[in-house]
Amino acid sequence: MKILAIETSCDETAAAVVEDGRRILSNQIASQVEIHARYGGVVPEVASRQHLLSIIPILKQAMAEAGVSWEDLSGIAVTVGPGLAGSLLVGVNAAKAIALAHNLPLIGVNHLEGHLYANWLGDKSIDFPIVCLIVSGGHSDLVLVRGHGDYVVLGRTRDDAAGEAFDKAARILGLGYPGGPAIEQAARAGTASLPLPRAWLKGSGDFSFSGVKTALLRLAEAGKISSVADAAASFQEAVVDVLVSKTVTVAKERRAKQVLLAGGVASNGLLRQRLAENSPLPVLVPPPNLCTDNAAMIAACGYYRLQAGKTNGLDLDVIPGLKLG
Ligand code: KG4
Ligand code: ZN
Repeated sequence: MKILAIETSCDETAAAVVEDGRRILSNQIASQVEIHARYGGVVPEVASRQHLLSIIPILKQAMAEAGVSWEDLSGIAVTVGPGLAGSLLVGVNAAKAIALAHNLPLIGVNHLEGHLYANWLGDKSIDFPIVCLIVSGGHSDLVLVRGHGDYVVLGRTRDDAAGEAFDKAARILGLGYPGGPAIEQAARAGTASLPLPRAWLKGSGDFSFSGVKTALLRLAEAGKISSVADAAASFQEAVVDVLVSKTVTVAKERRAKQVLLAGGVASNGLLRQRLAENSPLPVLVPPPNLCTDNAAMIAACGYYRLQAGKTNGLDLDVIPGLKLG
């Protein structure tokens, strides 16, 4: 069963073809990172215009790379939310047009669920129940996955998402956008020597990252940052410390069989290493290129939705504020 998927929720125009929810036949991404970097963040109107320019070429490339024709496809999956309304609209309308023209089932996919399903790509064996930490630019969700499509959200961020915190910290340190990779790179030359706070929020699965960000800002304003590398390493350490500790605690409490990581921040090397070292349960993490936004993960999720008969009509609409669970 081959699914064509489209992802346009933020600043990547992506299309992919995946077989049986596992085997990637193509995975094309047109990144807008350089365009938005000069503004220090994603400009929604610029993003949607860029999606319009890229969507047809990227779809053609994905079909060509996979070597498939429309008749080979079993369905078309597309991200409906969460994300930027104008960006999501480009992908959803392209998917609707293809579904109508080629009489294909249309499958609306939650972007966060897509991140989770990046873990199914490849030939890993996955056993429910799972605890998954989904950490991206807009979300930090700790989720119990009891089966396909069966989620209980055990914790969320109360303020900044982990990726958002990385992006803001990078701006404070003058490291540019996107901040996560920039902080990770700078941290390699530093030591985590700055005393930055951690919000443990004991007894809750929730996160809070605004305090550590503000603490970094205050140090910068007071001229107390003598080494950007040390500051980056300290910030990364503080965020990873909380993410790993809470994820491991919740996974043990819920008697999960495995721990999964997902979302753009899951490409962070320290987070991957620390979770693997500290979890008594097996940890699965997608390769870094499948942690950040891509369409293969949307196709993987779309496959399981199609199998469960969860398809949509041509009245499918974007849901910018969509949540998980
Ligand atoms: O999942 P994603 O590609 O897009 C969203 O759905 O938001 O995540 C993007 C976020 C950005 O905030 C970016 O700074 C962060 O993921 N990120 C990282 C790393 N790579 C990307 N954060 C920490 N370390 C990284 N290596
Ligand atoms: Zn994402």
